[in-house]
Amino acid sequence: MAGIGLSLPTNTLVTPSSVTHTSSSRSSSSSRCNCVKMMTVSVDEKKKTFTLKKSEEAFNAAKGLMPGGVNSPVRAFKSVGGQPIVIDSVKGSRMWDIDGNEYIDYVGSWGPAIIGHADDEVLAALAETMKKGTSFGAPCLLENVLAEMVISAVPSIEMVRFVNSGTEACMGVLRLARAFTGKTKLIKFEGCYHGHADAYLVKAGSGVATLGLPDSPGVPAAATSNTLTAPYNDIAAVEELFKTHKGEIAAVILEPVVGNSGFITPTPEFLNFIRKVTKENDTLLIFDEVMTGFRLAYGGAQEYYGITPDLTTLGKIIGGGLPVGAYGGRREIMEMVAPAGPMYQAGTLSGNPLAMTAGIHTLKRLQEPGSYEYLDKITSQLINGILDAGKKAGHAICGGYISGMFGFFFTDGPVYNFEDAKKSDTAKFAKFYRGMLEEGVYLAPSQFEAGFTGLKHTPEDIQRTIDAAERVFKQL
Ligand SMILES: Cc1ncc(COP(=O)(O)O)c(C=O)c1O
Repeated sequence: MAGIGLSLPTNTLVTPSSVTHTSSSRSSSSSRCNCVKMMTVSVDEKKKTFTLKKSEEAFNAAKGLMPGGVNSPVRAFKSVGGQPIVIDSVKGSRMWDIDGNEYIDYVGSWGPAIIGHADDEVLAALAETMKKGTSFGAPCLLENVLAEMVISAVPSIEMVRFVNSGTEACMGVLRLARAFTGKTKLIKFEGCYHGHADAYLVKAGSGVATLGLPDSPGVPAAATSNTLTAPYNDIAAVEELFKTHKGEIAAVILEPVVGNSGFITPTPEFLNFIRKVTKENDTLLIFDEVMTGFRLAYGGAQEYYGITPDLTTLGKIIGGGLPVGAYGGRREIMEMVAPAGPMYQAGTLSGNPLAMTAGIHTLKRLQEPGSYEYLDKITSQLINGILDAGKKAGHAICGGYISGMFGFFFTDGPVYNFEDAKKSDTAKFAKFYRGMLEEGVYLAPSQFEAGFTGLKHTPEDIQRTIDAAERVFKQL
């Protein structure tokens, strides 16, 4: 849930050896003078001066102003304890809090910052666009440019509709799937997050498959009564649902690699099966690539795995750090969307010129040769370094990565689903988290969120992170 922090997570772990590794070369560096300063300060000195006094004051004030002091739940650090750090600025692979502490950032604004924070070219392009205004509420050329880029990159997308968030994209795509198929039921998987629209807020039960009950007060039972759930990677459970609800299932939606309950990969058989069973039942297959789109590969998980869904949702990276979402798919399906067709969906700020600009320049940067090889190389070093350090210190730990996405759990694993993930020692993760924060490493503040690397993480960043992890593991 990338920053959402619903209930407990689901995760699956893949052992690192099961992931393909490639290498390449490309170096980049964080371009802010503070980084230099940080490099020269010893770990002990840094720890002595580490204080979160201003963050604490600001957060205490925020709690009286906004629910829980935040505008998205997981930011409140509830699952790792302590108070969140309040951010002042970001650049490249780094973040600075309002107390002046510097962090190597592996959250990347929950995914969008794949080319590094506040990229100079993106900022310059935004400044140019801004001279013409911030919102037109009418067609603009930039929409065509980003639409063409998305269509040519993502195998399943022949037409696209831009919206303002991943939640909105997933909400729209479900309506579209129902409109196109004339059916109402939806299958989603435990531990997959598809935004906070009512129909998706279903807590997966512990049975093989359950009819959804709302996960949050305020969601009427009727809103989730057509949401069926199954454990991730569980072919038999999905077969059973198709048998029980023959002819009723409009769509199957999944995160093709789960990031919202930690990092969980699909087995190849699972993805192949889902593609096959949806085709056989005239059910639409939706890949929610809000997180994986342009991250696992330029064409997303569908390019990485060579499996083409009928519909895809996107967000995060395609907005380059500005609010955006999108859904797209086969032309015949997309032509159902208003005003081409009867399925209504609209948005005041959709296709906003600033979001389009940031997206275009972010994708351009990703197109440069070697981008994904570089992500693969540094992420492999990072996760293998962390796992080795954890094991050497005697901890049960497992983890994996694909391209610029990674995760690890405090359990021997492997983790294939929610039940496996729950075996993770979350108390130990919380201690590890606080230790890493003091070391100047910012990880996602939950055991059940994936981590992200970007093109501005340098090999030195990675080594510093592994060194920090070694020290912290020893203290757990
Ligand atoms: C896979 C997935 N889908 C949908 C969403 C919702 O996106 P947003 O937070 O932009 O509404 C998220 C958010 O993290 C996500 O990870």
